[in-house]
Amino acid sequence: MSEFLIISCSLNPASVSRRLCKSAFDEMLKTKDAEFIDLAELNLPICDGSSAYGHPAVAPLSNKIRSAKCVLLGIPVYNYAASASAKNMIELTGRAWLDKVVGFVCAAGGKMSYMSVMGLANSLMLDFRCLIIPRFVYAHGESLDQEGKHVPEIQRRIEELAETAGRLTKAINP
Ligand SMILES: Cc1cc2nc3c(=O)[nH]c(=O)nc-3n(C[C@H](O)[C@H](O)[C@H](O)COP(=O)(O)O)c2cc1C
Repeated sequence: MSEFLIISCSLNPASVSRRLCKSAFDEMLKTKDAEFIDLAELNLPICDGSSAYGHPAVAPLSNKIRSAKCVLLGIPVYNYAASASAKNMIELTGRAWLDKVVGFVCAAGGKMSYMSVMGLANSLMLDFRCLIIPRFVYAHGESLDQEGKHVPEIQRRIEELAETAGRLTKAINP
């Protein structure tokens, strides 16, 4: 089990946020023990508040989240909010999130949806006392070059997020 988790929540095979998460993971691995989880590989059920908690993929994921001190979430922005896949994963894993440091790596189509993760951030803060890193990575159409690679400003943001995640996690777990 790793102290730092990166969970990519997109289910799209061509996901942008997954690629950004992999860059964040590479950045974290330079100095930290980290693990990358791709929800597209887990086939999680939809949370029904009942039997879905017994799905075989749920307990291993919950245990990894519970053991981590910091989680970076790769978030596709859908309908001015975090994707249902991200919210569903949090619904399934619930109290495993208690007291985590949480950061966001978002991909959106446009510039205007930059507050989309706030619903999820509020729920993590209020339900589970998570400390939300007040620096997001937010990539949109213009954040990628013609080959689909993210521009240097996004890379700078990813490095800044990884550094801040390490610093805050250390500060609250002396
Ligand atoms: C159902 C759906 C809803 C979307 N809603 C928004 C939106 O509200 N705002 C926005 O900027 N982009 C929106 N987009 C564009 C996605 O945020 C964009 O494709 C992003 O790359 C998704 O992340 P991913 O590539 O990691 O899956 C939407 C895309 C889909 C498929």
